[in-house]
Amino acid sequence: MPKQIKLAAHFPGVNNTTVWSDPRSGSQIDFASFEHMARTAERGKFDFIFLAEGLRLREHAGKILDSDVVGRPNTTTVLAALSAVTSRLGLAGTLSSTFNEPYEVARQVSTLDHLSGGRAAWNVVTSPDAFTGQNFRRGGFLKREDRYQRAEEFLTTVRELWDSWAPDAFVGDKKQGVFVREVGRFVHSGPQFDIEGEFTLPRTPQGQPIVIQAGDSDEGREFAAKSADVIFSRHGTLEDGQAFFTDVKRRLAAYGRSYEDLLIMPAATFVLGDTEEEAHEYAREIRYQQVRPATAIQFLEQVWRRDLSEYDADGPLPEVDPDPDAEPLTWGRVQHDKDNLETARKWRALAEEKKLSIRELVIEATTRQQFIGTPQQVAHTVNDYVQSDAADGFVLVPHLTPGGLDEFADKVVPHLQELGVFRADYTGNTLREHLFSQ
Ligand SMILES: Cc1cc2nc3c(=O)[nH]c(=O)nc-3n(C[C@H](O)[C@H](O)[C@H](O)COP(=O)(O)O)c2cc1C
Repeated sequence: MPKQIKLAAHFPGVNNTTVWSDPRSGSQIDFASFEHMARTAERGKFDFIFLAEGLRLREHAGKILDSDVVGRPNTTTVLAALSAVTSRLGLAGTLSSTFNEPYEVARQVSTLDHLSGGRAAWNVVTSPDAFTGQNFRRGGFLKREDRYQRAEEFLTTVRELWDSWAPDAFVGDKKQGVFVREVGRFVHSGPQFDIEGEFTLPRTPQGQPIVIQAGDSDEGREFAAKSADVIFSRHGTLEDGQAFFTDVKRRLAAYGRSYEDLLIMPAATFVLGDTEEEAHEYAREIRYQQVRPATAIQFLEQVWRRDLSEYDADGPLPEVDPDPDAEPLTWGRVQHDKDNLETARKWRALAEEKKLSIRELVIEATTRQQFIGTPQQVAHTVNDYVQSDAADGFVLVPHLTPGGLDEFADKVVPHLQELGVFRADYTGNTLREHLFSQ
């Protein structure tokens, strides 16, 4: 039997992927938008809907970055509301292990799992920047190693709390008047957390909610291999995906885990058309909407760490090099390429080779995995990627909110079902069943 594909829907948050200026774009905050996308994902039998988290508005050169879509409601509140308008779809929320406390996160995610009948997932992120940390009591004091140390102990502690009630602790015997046999006591003593008491909720419908991890360094991959059910990655192209897949799956054995215990789901965008040419033409239009001239200059400034506002986005790259010693100009966005001079060198070579303007270069350099084509072609390509171990499935990132997923659910999913690589209907009720019992 071919590998079964996992699918998730990313509710677009900030990022220039989202084309908010399109006439069909709706609110990023109204519940109606979340409801629309969740219902679409459930109609398409998706595994889960996914919310990212950013706890400070991004800034560029001292101003709010308004090319990003501003505004992000609280994750667990949104997911709790979605649990009432869906019945099978998994509900995945990102909550930082750097800016929260284990007791509070354990309680929120456990509550969601209870409310939704076993559909909750927690995406553990370490949130890299001190800039965001300024919003919190302890500020951005954690170095990378310390963030992952905290994340590991954070997750261990949360799992201890989730497991603290025995499976048969809840009795509810009205005749005998016995409500619980024994409430869940916990004691956790470690370098990061020293807490004890009773956890306020019994074991959840899933036993333990699903744990997702998003973080790319060696520490991040090791953390995922040891503890996560799913990795949300940015390695969506075929070769890059395969390299990431091999690297991460190889790490599992050291923790006594097998290949199927950890699912790899990269972010991916898609553009559909009635013909292949139409889809490519539409994809091009979208890229130009996503990278407007001002956005292109901002991207360049992020790498160059210099004011480049005098440059023409339709002209050539600046002759000057990035300033390696300058403070970053962009705050609140994860910068994956750490060496600015090296990135600039690569970008220059690419621009020269293909004769690209600044805007064209940014479009070329920042385009992530895109599945482009007719619905049938896209279904085949997605399937080829999964069968050739570039991924176990994808977290789809539509460029329109909230209707951007509709076409995929209605037109691509049926082809995947015909290929026998995606469920015709849900066979289980919990997210754990969707992900692991096929
Ligand atoms: C695909 C991906 C998605 C991420 N999403 C978020 C997010 O929604 N919120 C957040 O605070 N951090 C997010 N992060 C940041 C990571 O949790 C982590 O702090 C960062 O990537 C630095 O760690 P690393 O060097 O291990 O990648 C994301 C990272 C990746 C790779």
